[in-house]
Amino acid sequence: MRLLQVVLFALSIGLWTSCNSSSSENASKDIRLNQYLIEGKKIYESHCANCHQVDGKGFARLYPPIDSVFLRDTTATLQIILMGNKNPLTVKGIEYTLPMPGHDFFTDLELAELSTYLYATWSGQKAQRISTETVKTLRENP
Ligand code: HEC
Repeated sequence: MRLLQVVLFALSIGLWTSCNSSSSENASKDIRLNQYLIEGKKIYESHCANCHQVDGKGFARLYPPIDSVFLRDTTATLQIILMGNKNPLTVKGIEYTLPMPGHDFFTDLELAELSTYLYATWSGQKAQRISTETVKTLRENP
């Protein structure tokens, strides 16, 4: 009987803590992250996958795979998406010489969603939302 009381008490504490406000904040953060991931995937598939492919593995020696090391530098990632790159770039030991086109027509939100998706999918790190503020700051101080 005593054991049952202990178990019931523990359950009620568990219920109480799972209903407090910080966990509902976390839930809304997760929803926001998921929205960014869904939108980011759509943007990637319509603007990037023709070169880098849907699976991000790139194409032959023409277009590089989306690279985890490169992605860990959010600033460099946003810069190459916005401004492109004309100089040869070595990714995973292979040199790519075709230019990467710039995409400065994206809105701050689209860039935030896209870079959030790239980071979550190919950085090898835990997913995190890249905010529109980060994008805005970089655009204002390139
Ligand atoms: C016309 C083909 C093409 C398109 C479209 C394109 N890229 Fe690239 N991308 C390249 C090439 C080529 C490079 C290698 C850079 C160089 O040689 O200048 C590159 C490099 C990169 C890199 C850095 C290196 C790496 O492989 O991680 C990232 C990140 C990247 N692209 C992301 C994107 C994203 C995101 C989009 C969509 C908005 C996109 N690219 C659209 C061709 C393309």
